[in-house]
Amino acid sequence: MGKTNVLSKIRTFNGVNRPIYVLAGLAFLISVATLAKFNYITPLRFSDRFCNYHGSFDGDNYIIGSQMRKTIETAIFKIHQEMDDLKALEANSSSAPSSVSSASGSMFRHVAFLADVLSLVQSVHMDLPSFEERFVADHPLKQQNGDPGEHFMREEIKKYIKIKPNRLGKQNFMGANGTFTSIGHACFAMKKDLEEYMDYDVGEICNDDWRLAQKLMVHGCDPLPRRRCFSRGPQLYHKPFPINESLWKLPDNRNVRWGQYKCKNFACLASNTTARKGFFKCTDCFNLTHHESPRWLNRGEIDPETNQTADFSIAEVLEIKPGEIRIGLDFSIGTGTFAARMREQNVTIVSATINLGAPFNEMIALRGLVPLYLTVNQRLPFFDSTLDMIHTTRFLDGWIDLILLDFVLYDWDRVLRPGGLLWIDGFFCLKEDLSDYMEAFKALRYRRHKWVVVPKKDKDDKEVFFSAVLEKPPRPFR
Ligand SMILES: *[C@@H]1O[C@H](CO)[C@@H](O)[C@H](O)[C@H]1NC(C)=O
Ligand SMILES: *[C@@H]1O[C@H](CO)[C@@H](O)[C@H](O)[C@H]1NC(C)=O
Ligand SMILES: *[C@@H]1O[C@H](CO)[C@@H](O)[C@H](O)[C@H]1NC(C)=O
Ligand SMILES: *[C@@H]1O[C@H](CO)[C@@H](O)[C@H](O)[C@H]1NC(C)=O
Ligand SMILES: *[C@@H]1O[C@H](CO)[C@@H](O)[C@H](O)[C@H]1NC(C)=O
Ligand SMILES: *[C@@H]1O[C@H](CO)[C@@H](O)[C@H](O)[C@H]1NC(C)=O
Ligand SMILES: *[C@@H]1O[C@H](CO)[C@@H](O)[C@H](O)[C@H]1NC(C)=O
Repeated sequence: MGKTNVLSKIRTFNGVNRPIYVLAGLAFLISVATLAKFNYITPLRFSDRFCNYHGSFDGDNYIIGSQMRKTIETAIFKIHQEMDDLKALEANSSSAPSSVSSASGSMFRHVAFLADVLSLVQSVHMDLPSFEERFVADHPLKQQNGDPGEHFMREEIKKYIKIKPNRLGKQNFMGANGTFTSIGHACFAMKKDLEEYMDYDVGEICNDDWRLAQKLMVHGCDPLPRRRCFSRGPQLYHKPFPINESLWKLPDNRNVRWGQYKCKNFACLASNTTARKGFFKCTDCFNLTHHESPRWLNRGEIDPETNQTADFSIAEVLEIKPGEIRIGLDFSIGTGTFAARMREQNVTIVSATINLGAPFNEMIALRGLVPLYLTVNQRLPFFDSTLDMIHTTRFLDGWIDLILLDFVLYDWDRVLRPGGLLWIDGFFCLKEDLSDYMEAFKALRYRRHKWVVVPKKDKDDKEVFFSAVLEKPPRPFR
């Protein structure tokens, strides 16, 4: 009997001290695990910084991670063992009639304490990436931060996002081991719309959902995933007019799908009697004969106060660099008239626009010009220092955030060649905002060929027009 008492006392003594050891061990484990989690969450930065040691660094991480997992698993096993022991001991002492009630009470507390500790350690254990996850996350062919495809239910999205390793496991001619198809990060916030967009049967006809696609793009889901269905086109497509006619003639109505527009033909868009027909900034853009044909041919109306106009003619701008301007981009919303007039000067202009309320892209294409379906969210798909000119009108007006304007202007600067022209055509904003916007344009430090501010007459003198033709300087020493 005495022997049992001594034994139980030793056990109780141990039981008192063990929680302290366990606590200390737990503190250590949690701190190590937190560090590991930090590594796991920011592998991008780590691999950026250590890209030269990529393999070995990731390898070390992998070993540390697996060792830690083993340690924590051992700790969990030991706590389980201890709890079982204590329970058995309690059962023994309660069966013995002379058992001390206080010993049984403290034992119960220890068991409860250990159960607490166990749940904490187990939660850390669960947060640790498993062997497989860690291995996969560190694999160069695996996207960081887990598999983005997991976010989506639709199989086509998963399939699209998944990195496609090259056949035979070799590098392709571009020097990559796989093909990395990407989607805009805002797609994740627009899961429902994207899943609706990707809801189709492979090889079948897609839904008539270009508006949904455009909504996704405008809201940052850009690039959109590709689809494996046949897009809907006009039912009966008629060959476009020859180029000597198409530039200045309203196209055949049958060559456009009108389902999602208010107007159902080009005459409706061109007419000045149809109310609220297309995009409010470009209500007369389809009226080629009256509204569009005079644009950029002559200087605009002279403002009597300033004796200046914000509407320059193409001729006076091309005179700045005779014979040098051959290719360029028009970032506007319109029907391609600027590109048409430039074409007559033997200058090739690509017109970037989206379909806001009217089929602008189809119209430009049917006129025989090149439409570029592009939102303002995207980096321009041109290489550095390639274009002779960028022209913009009715697009970057007083609505645009100044930081965004900065990013846009620097991107334009990137694609303009040295000596290329940036033509800001009738940028308008509130008078009080003008100096902020001007700062953004001045920050480019371009040579000013034209720089004009005139009051905008139609809105109780609160707004102004700003137009400029600026030349990108060569930057030989930078
Ligand atoms: C409990 O008592 C049984 C016999 O009564 C003994 O075999 C066993 O080892 C005891 N367990 C502990 C944990 O003391
Ligand atoms: C990628 O390809 C190169 C060349 O074939 C090879 O050395 C490398 O191990 C490959 N990497 C992966 C992750 O497959
Ligand atoms: C356009 O060019 C074609 C030949 O290339 C010619 O037959 C046709 O008459 C021209 N149309 C106009 C309106 O000049
Ligand atoms: C274009 O506008 C003018 C004047 O606003 C109008 O007389 C003409 O009918 C319009 N063109 C078309 C095709 O509706
Ligand atoms: C359309 O244009 C014609 C001719 O220029 C003009 O008489 C008429 O008032 C215009 N209609 C509208 C609604 O602007
Ligand atoms: C307006 O500017 C033109 C040249 O741009 C000049 O010939 C003319 O005299 C000016 N008129 C006034 C009133 O300043
Ligand atoms: C455009 O090029 C054609 C053919 O080379 C030439 O005949 C025409 O004069 C050019 N037009 C202009 C405005 O330079």
